Amino acid sequence: HRRLKAKEGVSAEPTSENFCGGLRAANFSIANTKKLINDAIMNNDFLNKVEPQHMREMVDCMYEKVYTEGQLVIQEGEPGNYLYVLADGLLEVIQNGKLLGEMRPGTAFGELAILYNCKRTATVKAVSQSHIWALDRQTFQTIMMRTTKARHEETILKKGSILFERVVVTQSTEGLAEPQEIKTLGVGDYFGEKALISEDVRSANIVCSENDTHCLVVDRDNFNQMVGTYEELQSYLKEYIDSAEAQDLRRLKEKIALLP
Ligand code: CMP
Repeated sequence: HRRLKAKEGVSAEPTSENFCGGLRAANFSIANTKKLINDAIMNNDFLNKVEPQHMREMVDCMYEKVYTEGQLVIQEGEPGNYLYVLADGLLEVIQNGKLLGEMRPGTAFGELAILYNCKRTATVKAVSQSHIWALDRQTFQTIMMRTTKARHEETILKKGSILFERVVVTQSTEGLAEPQEIKTLGVGDYFGEKALISEDVRSANIVCSENDTHCLVVDRDNFNQMVGTYEELQSYLKEYIDSAEAQDLRRLKEKIALLP
């Protein structure tokens, strides 16, 4: 399998058997194809937060495949292994046997199963011969992880240092001067998700209780890219947070009740 990058300056006829990486020699330059893929990804609501570096790597790793009239590109209900961009041709989208719409050149698709690890949500079929660029799931994930990993900042914190400070006055501890400890977090626990999902302000302090605490950090952009655009997951997490919050409040009340 050859990549778009490796094919720079080379033209070859594509075959329908594999992702040959060849550009149609006559009327489509590599620069045009890269721009088409780039624009298609930027126009996709689920992919448009991809950073320039991600984008370059993704485009460089795509392969071209030709589908003949009537051929299925994606089958609803199957696991998803590729993310696609239609360069030329016409496709139709079918769900439960119902025609949902058409896809024209410059459309990125097949992103849902790749991004959210779900089954294909619809069938995509070639209405006429179609030239489609594909990026396999593994490569997509490797690209995304590499940059995300580079963005993970490992932070070493001194005992007592405050990672997140609430910007509003504590309200849940009536009659007590100091903020009350709600729970203890250990290795593998996560925190800081609430402000990313539901609000902008931090709802609690996270205070370091060991001498050296190592944290991995995911920034808001990366978090949103993977979670925030997916309404179902977002509402699930919101419910989860609300119930965790209710639990925290109950524990706090119990604790206050035990105080002399
Ligand atoms: P995925 O679920 O991975 O595979 C099928 C693809 O069809 C899906 O990603 C979207 O890219 C696309 N798709 C799903 N629903 C629609 C729709 N209603 N209109 C257009 N495209 C859709």
